[in-house]
Amino acid sequence: MTELSRRKMLISGGALGALGALGMAPPAQARSLMAWTWASSGSVAGSGAGADPRWVWDEEADPLVASLLDRGAVPEVNRLLWDWNRNDQPLPQGLPEDLRSFMEKARRLPSWADHGKLNTAAEFNKSRGLYLNLLNGVGGGMLATAIPNEARSVYYSKGGADMEDRVAKTSILGFAVGALNAYRPGGSCVVEAVKTRLVHAAVRHLLQKSPHWTGGIPISQEDMLVTWHTLPTYAMRKMLEWKVPISAAESEAYLHVWQVTAHMLGIRDEYIPATWDAANAQSDQVLPRNMGPTPEGVKLTDILLGQLAEQTSPGSISRPLCNALARYLVGDEVADWDGIKREPVWDRVIPTAWPALVRFREGLVPLPLVPEAAWVLDEAARKYILFYLTKGKETKIEIPTTNRPG
Ligand code: HEM
Repeated sequence: MTELSRRKMLISGGALGALGALGMAPPAQARSLMAWTWASSGSVAGSGAGADPRWVWDEEADPLVASLLDRGAVPEVNRLLWDWNRNDQPLPQGLPEDLRSFMEKARRLPSWADHGKLNTAAEFNKSRGLYLNLLNGVGGGMLATAIPNEARSVYYSKGGADMEDRVAKTSILGFAVGALNAYRPGGSCVVEAVKTRLVHAAVRHLLQKSPHWTGGIPISQEDMLVTWHTLPTYAMRKMLEWKVPISAAESEAYLHVWQVTAHMLGIRDEYIPATWDAANAQSDQVLPRNMGPTPEGVKLTDILLGQLAEQTSPGSISRPLCNALARYLVGDEVADWDGIKREPVWDRVIPTAWPALVRFREGLVPLPLVPEAAWVLDEAARKYILFYLTKGKETKIEIPTTNRPG
């Protein structure tokens, strides 16, 4: 190895390696030198062509949605899909034939979906709902804003102009995954995942026309994997860190519901990790090279935390509490990238109060050992979840036809 490339590796290890807060190993190589080395033998497909997912998108949905946009069909499609809400519901009459045939195929669960595991996952999601909603909502949100590709695409797409609506829409899928009937006939996961796949395909077509967009085609398979890891992989690592008791069957089932969701969102089976070990290895490869600060991420974080503060504990205490909770969830490096303010009081309190609350909830410590501040956190988390549950009911996922105005 030349001296220059060794130095590059060291520099990148220093700058990106502190993702240790997420339990990630430091990157082995500098960003520019990184090749795709994750083995598809660790995927649910068990094998694959080994193509670098940075250069793979969604070859079925992308040309279809581009064509729907170009021929002005999307407003009518959105109108027709408004009342398509249940997994077992037939597709509405009147959809363009190419879209109908794509959706009939896209709504089918993969052959490897296991209903027993999906049922166990549903029970797990229910019993661990508070942690999962907090980790996927606040934690996942704060991680997403520290992913430059994602922060920029969210900022410059239509939804970037109205983040409250955007978060409510995104939470529709989150809550569908967590629902007891997620993939059962009466649930809505299939519907929301297929709609989201169409939304992403639209974004790939539209964003490239934005004067603010400087990248290539957005939302590659690698981008999808990165975001996926900020959801189940991150949540599982955090719950283990908090010593939440999780049985082997629950752990496997929770991975499974997200494997199925990845497939339904259009991630290729050859990239979907088959086990937690494979997931952690893939996360260690893709997250460090895809995270960092952007002005757009900082602005989005500020809006998101402002919203969170508004609905949790009104009064002067709320924003500092939300800042500190977010910092605690994602760690200092990501929090600094997101421009989250340091909070002298809460930054000290939360790292003690939250784990104590978890231990109390899990029956591991008695009440006197739980600090008073833990209840403020408990209440804040509940209000946050309730707020987004309500907001999510007021809106639906729709295919955008424009970028962010202006
Ligand atoms: C839209 C979830 C990955 C960028 C959405 C929506 C959901 C969602 C539920 C619909 C809500 C809405 O229309 O606002 C997910 C999940 C992902 C993922 C579960 C991965 C597992 C990504 C990635 C990017 C991205 C990797 C960018 C790099 C966007 C954008 C929109 C969107 C720009 C549309 C916003 C608009 O209409 O203005 N996503 N997403 N998503 N997503 Fe994703």
